[in-house]
Amino acid sequence: MASEVTTTYDEVPYDSQPVARTHPSHLGAIARLFGMDPKPAQRAQVLELGCASGHNLFGLAAAYPQSSFVGIDLSRVQIEQGKALLAQANLPNVRLEQMSILDVGQEFGTFDYIICHGIFSWVPEPVRRKILEICRSNLSPQGVAYISYNTYPGWRVRETIRQMMLYHAERHERPSDKCRAARAILTLVASATESLKTYGDLFRAELEQVRRMPDWYLFHDFLSEVNQPFYFSEFMQLADAAGLQYLCDSEVPKLLPQEFRPEAQRRIARLSSDRIRTEQYVDFLRNRMFRRTLLVHREVALPSQLGSGALEGLFMSGSLRALGTTPNGEVAFCSRGGGRIVVRDPLTARTLELLAARWPTGYQGRELLEVAAGTLGSDAVVDGAARQVTLSTLLRAYLAGLVELSLDPSPTAFAIGTTPRSTELARYLAANGKAVINLLNEPVELTPLERQLIALLDGTRSVSELLQLLQHSDASLAPSESIAFRSELDLTRQLERLAEHALLMA
Ligand SMILES: C[S@@+](CC[C@H](N)C(=O)[O-])C[C@H]1O[C@@H](n2cnc3c(N)ncnc32)[C@H](O)[C@@H]1O
Repeated sequence: MASEVTTTYDEVPYDSQPVARTHPSHLGAIARLFGMDPKPAQRAQVLELGCASGHNLFGLAAAYPQSSFVGIDLSRVQIEQGKALLAQANLPNVRLEQMSILDVGQEFGTFDYIICHGIFSWVPEPVRRKILEICRSNLSPQGVAYISYNTYPGWRVRETIRQMMLYHAERHERPSDKCRAARAILTLVASATESLKTYGDLFRAELEQVRRMPDWYLFHDFLSEVNQPFYFSEFMQLADAAGLQYLCDSEVPKLLPQEFRPEAQRRIARLSSDRIRTEQYVDFLRNRMFRRTLLVHREVALPSQLGSGALEGLFMSGSLRALGTTPNGEVAFCSRGGGRIVVRDPLTARTLELLAARWPTGYQGRELLEVAAGTLGSDAVVDGAARQVTLSTLLRAYLAGLVELSLDPSPTAFAIGTTPRSTELARYLAANGKAVINLLNEPVELTPLERQLIALLDGTRSVSELLQLLQHSDASLAPSESIAFRSELDLTRQLERLAEHALLMA
């Protein structure tokens, strides 16, 4: 049902971005870890509520052509922008509709994954209630719903900043004037509180972050009529009333209070046997500001503790680097996200080395163990105890954010192959100067040179053919960039960089 309502998002469109943490294969892996039977991303029905222009769905649709993706948003302008892109980028498995969340009924269909990112805190109570109702009525029995929202206590300080901005900008009508006024008060507060110790310290860190935000973000997140943060426990009461239960947070590394001293971690764990209460205490200690909560039907039986057995069937990857071996044989690894892990047993160390060499593609857990044992020339993998140690450490590495899990095999290539190929979507976005989305549903910043290269990667050209084409079309490149195309070796390096950024297809 098309809505005639116009929204502030028509006036100031939101810069719709892909969000890797909403990837169905990532959500599905978490559900599988909890013993559920979720749908693989390769053949899933996905619904996004409040999709803006739909950029969170396009990369997924390009990677999984057998799946279908539906996005709805109230803003006509944003939906039209998205449809214009769809018409150019050949994504028949995406449907975008201008309609209100309030108008989604049971007849809209059943979905394996429902994504609602950056909406819940910014819509009035009846829409919030309806979002939860949709997650109950339109979610398949083993489906997973993702809802993100602003949280207390983190938003307490931000609320003061928001109120100052609203107060100072209230006499203006135009969004650009409102943003200018809001920025002016931020500048004043920053300098006026400089000499104030505690109050000033508290504000400075926040103000610095807020001042760096672009106008479209400031306008919708801080100057919006509604911005309702929730304590996690309050949000879960609302979810419970709608017949939904907590599965996990989509940011798995944030589950455990790993930044606290071990004794503090133990004491936090003893505070409550209830996961929701424990996580609420951790939010208090962390001053958490935002959550990405995964919900499932109340009827799903969930274990109280995670086991590592499910890892064998899941797919693992890790952007890791070995830091070296200590004299007592321990091997340390770090990840691109800054995480660190030290492992003692050779089988586990080898699995992490293998993942590092095969980023971003990785291995299925079972295969990883076999290949690791094979390269060690041992029969360690058939030894149940060694297998257990390795799987437990890999689970620890996942919980620490060093290893990624997915329900599906990775659609990425880790090596460039004879005729490298990127998705048709990436080729279109690169050729048209738009933000490019990779196969992990992340936005990737590219140089003009990389854009030219991606636009040619349709899977029919060898490296030498690509080189010839680029050498004849490098007129638009800066001299330093054209140097990169002097030899096949240079071009191969560029392609390897694209593979590392998950832009090449398997
Ligand atoms: C903060 S933006 C987030 C957009 C997108 N999910 C993202 O994270 O980039 C909020 C979106 O919710 C949409 N919206 C607000 N109320 C809505 C409603 N009742 N039904 C559908 N969409 C709505 C707005 O038009 C806007 O695109």
